Amino acid sequence: MSVPSSATISPLSNVADAPVTVAVTGAAGQIGYALLFRLAAGALLGPERSIRLHLLEVPQARAALDGVIMELEDAAFPALQGIVATDDPMVAFRDAEQVFLVGARPRGPGMQRGDLLQANADIFRTQGRALDAVASRSVRVVVVGNPANTNALIAQRHAPSLDASCFSAMTRLDHNRALAQLAAKLRCGVADIRRLCVWGNHSSTQYPDVSYATVAGQPLAAQLEPAWLEQQFLPAVTERGAAIIQARGASSAASAASAAIDHMRDWVLGSTDWVSMALPADGAYDIPEGLVYSFPVQCSDGQASIVRELDISAASRERMDRSQDELLQELEAIRSLLP
Ligand code: NAD
Ligand code: LMR
Repeated sequence: MSVPSSATISPLSNVADAPVTVAVTGAAGQIGYALLFRLAAGALLGPERSIRLHLLEVPQARAALDGVIMELEDAAFPALQGIVATDDPMVAFRDAEQVFLVGARPRGPGMQRGDLLQANADIFRTQGRALDAVASRSVRVVVVGNPANTNALIAQRHAPSLDASCFSAMTRLDHNRALAQLAAKLRCGVADIRRLCVWGNHSSTQYPDVSYATVAGQPLAAQLEPAWLEQQFLPAVTERGAAIIQARGASSAASAASAAIDHMRDWVLGSTDWVSMALPADGAYDIPEGLVYSFPVQCSDGQASIVRELDISAASRERMDRSQDELLQELEAIRSLLP
């Protein structure tokens, strides 16, 4: 039996603007549950901007999704103008302007995110094709489902009529984790730290880089012991996902949803500092074109632009290359799925 594909609630609001269509896949999952209520409350575009949610799930999750929709109705969010629930990506992505591709299998204890590649790759091929066919031509897509970078590459390659710049994968959670670790160590606020970035893959090869970072306007790295950065900070950030799985028995959900909102909000409304986003590489920093690789990015006028021409030390280059090599291996593993 399929999930109903008609609107399930009527307009609740007197907000005048035409609603923005926001699509979320995996809507009945853990991250979906943390994400939808914040979206409906206006965390993305502000409580004055009305939105319409398009929710995609597999048929087996129908009952759970119905329950989530009942709760969304019961929260009586003024800006929520309607919900479409469906198991058909062609319905979910029709005219979608912002898309959160969350639906995918999560890893369990002892797994690497790359172990999910074969299980999840086909989802992103199908969804890339549907986005190509029916999404807004200026859609912004963030892939959260793991392995996020290569899943984004698969979706992007199956959407040839959309500009590659419509696609991204989420490394904002890693960026936020790095900010939190540094702020705790330096006893400052996260907002005091600027020009931090995460390079590469959303995996244990990612490189959270403090080379350009400042705290209260002063160089940050100079205030920390190199040994702390190497032996405490880097592993704390790169292994944080595994630590949460170990502690919770399930992967991060609320922090992932929060990072996904940060990612999309800054993309659409503009960022006030560097943020980390995995984008299709365009030759910057000699990363092979097309790989979806995390860079330092600034957003304005709805565009995400890689921060260019930074001096890269030999030590940084080695770490960046390691993550690039992992992404090239992931690409080889799914090459047969590409058009
Ligand atoms: P979950 O298992 O709780 O939920 C996933 C949902 O996706 C399920 O409800 C499932 O029915 C649905 N789904 C599966 N295939 C689908 C399809 N083809 N179309 C639509 N929906 C589909 O998992 P979760 O905890 O919400 O995590 C989702 C994904 O996000 C996992 O791959 C996880 O590893 C990843 N994740 C990424 C980050 C990141 O920083 N990039 C952070 C946390 C989790
Ligand atoms: C995370 O970083 O928390 C997610 O990618 C989930 C995981 O598998 O680590």
